Amino acid sequence: MAVSETTAAPPLPAHPDPQLDAILTGPLPHELSYAIGGPFHLLLPDRFDANAAAFPAVLDEFGVEGRVYYAKKANKAAVWIEQCALSGTGVDVASAGELRDALGHGVRGENVVITGPAKAESLLRVAVLQDCLIAVDALDELERVIAQAQTAARAARVLLRRLPPAQPHSRFGLDEKELACALSRCAEAGEAVVMEGFSFHLSGYDTQARAELAGELVDLCLKARALGLRADRISIGGGFAVDYTAAEHWEHFLEEQRPDHYHAGKSFTASDFYPYHSPVAGPDALRAILTTNALAGRLREAGVMLLLEPGRALLDRAGCTVFRVQGVKDRPGYGVVTVNGSSLSLSEQWFNSEYLPDPVLLPAHEPQGEPYAACVGGATCLESDMVTWRKVRFPTRPAAGDLLVYPNTAGYQMDSNESPFHELPLPPKVVLDTAGGTTRWRFDRHPLA
Ligand SMILES: Cc1ncc(COP(=O)(O)O)c(C=O)c1O
Repeated sequence: MAVSETTAAPPLPAHPDPQLDAILTGPLPHELSYAIGGPFHLLLPDRFDANAAAFPAVLDEFGVEGRVYYAKKANKAAVWIEQCALSGTGVDVASAGELRDALGHGVRGENVVITGPAKAESLLRVAVLQDCLIAVDALDELERVIAQAQTAARAARVLLRRLPPAQPHSRFGLDEKELACALSRCAEAGEAVVMEGFSFHLSGYDTQARAELAGELVDLCLKARALGLRADRISIGGGFAVDYTAAEHWEHFLEEQRPDHYHAGKSFTASDFYPYHSPVAGPDALRAILTTNALAGRLREAGVMLLLEPGRALLDRAGCTVFRVQGVKDRPGYGVVTVNGSSLSLSEQWFNSEYLPDPVLLPAHEPQGEPYAACVGGATCLESDMVTWRKVRFPTRPAAGDLLVYPNTAGYQMDSNESPFHELPLPPKVVLDTAGGTTRWRFDRHPLA
């Protein structure tokens, strides 16, 4: 059944990645699929290293002192934190489990920032003992940090997290009055607290908003110093956009997409989609922030360090997800491909949205036939378990045994929601080590370890 141009959703290919394509079109993905017997994720640590190095390079360009903390929530793999431990990149954790994992892989406590609301006592205790930097989110939390520091007879390193004035409904951070109380409490706490500065995290990807709030935090540092506090750094959180696809594809997709491009006439609000094209992304977004309102100069003059907590941006092009086609059925005008996993391995599907970079078909045999439009469902009993709702235009009709690769999934897509639903095993993560010009693979966390 050929695809009429009106059946399939407008194409949205991920940016070309010749180095990864060379691996994907070789025998390795089919070999791994055979060995693993279920979906799996491929991880590319070299990409993570390059992304993590690109941010400090921008800070250096501007002569701004700073530090990068990888936001660990974006992907649970061990390899990223192993790389952080080796390179001295910091890690942002938000739970006792994440902190244990980071410390256990060799990240030094002083290189960890603790974020998240109303932190568990067990998290605060280890954070204080390990000299981690704690982004305090509430006044009662500050009291608990001080109590932990007094019990341990150590100084707790803290940042005070600012409720963004432009996002007053955020449930995170301290408002102006609370900040004033927190500052005097820090001053009064004496040796129990080293107040190192302030932090925020903004929803969205706006560089201007980040620069403006960063400027306000620099001023707050100067005020805090008048109280005898150290206040020599600010964290601007994460939210450095990732550019998944070219502008022309993105614009065309947004203009053209409509319910009959989706299985079951499903509709999505375009503004709910992640902005899969961003003209200013990753380290360029940092450059834009530093340039806005001459922020770089203000940081230098005030002697304030700039801390960053990128998650998604450090994982850009650092991984993909591979399913095997288990069955294909025809429906009027398109097909339904069922893969050997579920949409729990593509988190975007669980936010009333759709992961839009197109999956790529790796046929098991020489492809024959005409282009074919199909949506992609999981091997579960749920109507709503759609790995892809839209009817993707494949070069040929997929067949059982073919592989389907979802590109650029390392940032938040792979494992935020995975569960062994239906007794399906969790997809393992396979690390591709490409050092020395050869490609070798290993499991991220060895199944026998
Ligand atoms: C405090 C904090 N820092 C950093 C991040 C990472 O954001 P991103 O992955 O968009 O860079 C988040 C994400 O929710 C966050 O809440």
